[in-house]
Amino acid sequence: MNRWIKTGMLVGAILMAAILVGCKGDTGPAGPAGTATCMNCHTDNEAMADYIRPLQLQYEASLHATGTTYLRSESSCSGCHTTEGYQQYVAAPLVTPPVVEDPTHIGCFACHAPHSNQSFAMRQTSATPFKVGGGTYDKQESNTCAMCHQVRVPSPDFNAAGFVSDSMSSSRFGGHHGPQSNVLSGHGLWTFGGTFSATHSHNSIADGCVTCHMAAKPAGSLAGNHTFAVAYMSGTSERINSKGCIGCHSSDMPSDAVALTFVDDAKHEFLAALNDTLAVRLTTLGLLKKNTDGSYSPQNNRRVSSTGPRVLWTKDELGAIFNYGALLEDRSGSVHNPTYAWAALRATLNWANAQPTP
Ligand code: HEC
Ligand code: HEC
Ligand code: HEC
Ligand code: HEC
Ligand code: HEC
Ligand code: HEC
Repeated sequence: MNRWIKTGMLVGAILMAAILVGCKGDTGPAGPAGTATCMNCHTDNEAMADYIRPLQLQYEASLHATGTTYLRSESSCSGCHTTEGYQQYVAAPLVTPPVVEDPTHIGCFACHAPHSNQSFAMRQTSATPFKVGGGTYDKQESNTCAMCHQVRVPSPDFNAAGFVSDSMSSSRFGGHHGPQSNVLSGHGLWTFGGTFSATHSHNSIADGCVTCHMAAKPAGSLAGNHTFAVAYMSGTSERINSKGCIGCHSSDMPSDAVALTFVDDAKHEFLAALNDTLAVRLTTLGLLKKNTDGSYSPQNNRRVSSTGPRVLWTKDELGAIFNYGALLEDRSGSVHNPTYAWAALRATLNWANAQPTP
């Protein structure tokens, strides 16, 4: 170790000791042993800086860091949209975390607890409970992702025991925006009394999301690792980072450009069936309405006649709307789990086609 690094570490150690005293007073882990552990991460030493700085830069480019939904810090939202709420959500997954007064975006200290653990182990380590349909998601480090990227309990909750029918008043009715862990593992969509197969190699990936979304990065820090991105732009061309895929797709994905065509073909076929066939049928049945921008949303607040009481919706009607929303908001166009996504789409369409046309 050269002199400069040594001196840098010493100055750093003194600084860190000062921070310790300042922040933690008598309760902090003070003294030479405490600062020595701090210096495992907080040094000017290039080896350490090389290790963490690139991850910070990647992280700053991710939507977790740049998105603005951390401002949704009210009680029912803070658990998935803020670092502070998420820490409480992990500590007690079945309790709704409180409103966070000074919210910050999902940062290092959401997913990691380096100061408690003295390492970058995940904060959430156990299997993650699903909010809809019971059971858990259990795929190593990606249990962290499933905490937030899963469907929420809809209102009205048509899965509830004894549910027969209810009115529905929100044009945003559904499972909310992040159903990816449900689709990947084949869990939580409405089955119309049957069962759907979820058997697909993508569901057997041991650490789930992490293999594909945190794979080694392509040139530059445009995707992979702590950007959490699979899709990226190379100049003006879209690409798919195939580093996490080639363990299985070695022959059919020779480059990121080819990986894109592979993904696009699968997405295109699925989204066409979802929007051009299923959504059209659900609109004919009066369950969805088409918006001016071409998207569809639930036909909320329907009444029996213009002044009559609200229409009451059955489980299957609400389930059909729920499935349409989840398959769209999964945003992989079936790629997360083609077997399950197609099974859910077909079952929803079969049910819709069996209903009398009004
Ligand atoms: C396992 C690695 C690791 C160890 C060990 C570690 N830290 Fe940190 N520390 C971090 C990371 C990562 C950040 C956040 C960096 C970022 O925001 O990009 C951080 C941030 C901080 C900050 C900035 C304030 C904040 O909350 O963001 C302080 C102060 C700090 N650490 C003090 C300490 C002290 C004191 C110790 C020893 C008791 C220590 N750290 C040990 C990784 C570590
Ligand atoms: C604390 C909750 C939380 C955790 C944990 C979490 N996410 Fe997210 N994720 C979000 C939210 C919220 C957004 C949208 C942020 C915004 O728009 O402000 C998001 C955005 C994303 C996006 C970007 C989507 C886009 O439009 O480009 C990807 C990809 C993603 N997350 C993947 C992951 C993966 C992989 C993991 C696990 C390693 C993970 N997330 C863990 C809440 C979370
Ligand atoms: C169980 C976790 C969870 C809870 C609770 C939650 N969200 Fe989200 N929300 C997410 C995730 C994950 C995303 C990002 C999904 C993606 O990018 O695919 C997201 C995305 C969003 C977006 C961005 C949508 C878009 O189209 O860009 C908004 C706005 C939002 N949430 C608002 C809220 C509000 C308001 C609440 C509380 C009423 C809330 N969320 C509660 C997980 C959650
Ligand atoms: C959304 C969740 C999430 C956030 C936020 C997050 N990480 Fe991570 N981090 C992970 C996951 C998941 C892994 C495990 C990845 C793996 O096994 O490949 C990980 C692994 C790591 C590792 C070990 C990597 C290795 O190659 O040994 C370090 C160091 C790290 N993160 C630092 C950070 C820092 C610094 C920040 C903030 C700038 C941060 N992380 C923010 C999810 C997150
Ligand atoms: C088999 C690889 C694979 C796995 C496993 C995987 N994803 Fe994806 N994911 C993709 C691909 C491919 C896309 C589509 C990218 C595109 O075309 O924009 C995607 C899209 C997304 C998107 C939409 C934003 C974007 O980047 O396009 C989010 C958010 C997301 N995935 C989150 C997750 C989460 C959370 C998990 C774990 C529950 C997960 N994914 C597991 C491959 C994967
Ligand atoms: C664990 C191995 C494994 C990994 C990792 C993996 N795949 Fe796959 N993937 C498969 C297998 C096996 C199939 C099924 C081939 C078939 O359809 O019979 C498949 C099918 C697909 C399909 C076709 C879907 C359809 O049926 O139309 C796409 C697209 C795809 N994978 C994209 C990806 C991408 C992109 C990644 C990386 C981000 C990835 N896969 C990672 C094993 C894997």
